[in-house]
Amino acid sequence: MASIHSSARSHPLTSKLGAAILLLLAALLLSALAPRGGPLGRPASGFPGSGSTHGDSQAGSPQRWAHAPANLNLAVQIPTWAGCSHHPCQYSHLAHGPVNTSVPFHSQFGEDAWLFRNVLHNRLRDFYLELGALNGRDGFNTRFFTEAAGWRGLLIEADPGMYGELTRNRPEALCVHAAVCDTFQQVHWHGDGFESGIWEFMSDKFRQTWHGEDSVEEMAAVPCVPLQYILDKFGIDTIDLWTLDVEGGELKILGTVDWSRLRVKVLVVETDGTDLAKDTAVVDLLSAAGFQQVRRLSEQEQAAAGVEFLGSEMARMNSFFVHRDAWQHLARAPDVAALHVP
Ligand SMILES: *[C@@H]1O[C@H](CO)[C@@H](O)[C@H](O)[C@H]1NC(C)=O
Repeated sequence: MASIHSSARSHPLTSKLGAAILLLLAALLLSALAPRGGPLGRPASGFPGSGSTHGDSQAGSPQRWAHAPANLNLAVQIPTWAGCSHHPCQYSHLAHGPVNTSVPFHSQFGEDAWLFRNVLHNRLRDFYLELGALNGRDGFNTRFFTEAAGWRGLLIEADPGMYGELTRNRPEALCVHAAVCDTFQQVHWHGDGFESGIWEFMSDKFRQTWHGEDSVEEMAAVPCVPLQYILDKFGIDTIDLWTLDVEGGELKILGTVDWSRLRVKVLVVETDGTDLAKDTAVVDLLSAAGFQQVRRLSEQEQAAAGVEFLGSEMARMNSFFVHRDAWQHLARAPDVAALHVP
């Protein structure tokens, strides 16, 4: 069901106009990044070192998220570990050790098993971000890392019904009920199964096709906030594993990230092929931000490298990226660096 849900929800953003707007946003972002020297906007040695670069003034972009509207009413679940006396907090522990191998993998297409065996092997108490967390239980990429290796993290979900289940299923996680936009807005959740999603993000054509008679007054209001606002609120500046599956809005969200302030080591983005222009733009944007895409190996290459290749369904639905400065810090199977595109 998740994948049907997924492709239907992606529909509004797959229109030609939507794709054109997203490409334009990506182009603007790339040109904004270009003059800043390193893609991270700071010395190459700054990743993932100890010195804080939080609030780097080089970024030069207006802090739109610094001024939240007074009436912003964000539902959050804050576990005891979240929040700290200083910002940024030390959520990412860089610890290695044995994990509980009795815990089953949970991802839909084996993403967690692949990540664990090849890239995030035996990493304890690291930090994840899952955007589009749904109920946090079935087929989710971060659940294994929480249960087997004590990871902590941030789960964001816009669907009001799913958010309720999420907080029950993942009491250990920092949960936020919100959609993600580049400015503060209020949007509405139109939830009726397969064609559910954010009303304001649906194209007119999609609305007419599926929801001709519906009126916004009957829909649940959901705050839409910049991702950086949520990260700043909880002092998060390092994410070891980010999985991003927001039904077609991936490029738009990645375009709002200030890479000079946020260190991301491993990023899994849903690129299911329903919008090839978007998928290509995601790869281009992340390459410019210093990420290397994990390439699918042929079976011969896999045997030669002694590593597992990405399963075909997993590779069709997702793109895997590792920041080029993060490879050396990840405990991993031997020769896994052979997985990335040189
Ligand atoms: C390891 O995980 C299994 C399955 O979730 C659980 O039953 C067991 O208690 C765990 N062991 C430890 C030492 O936490």
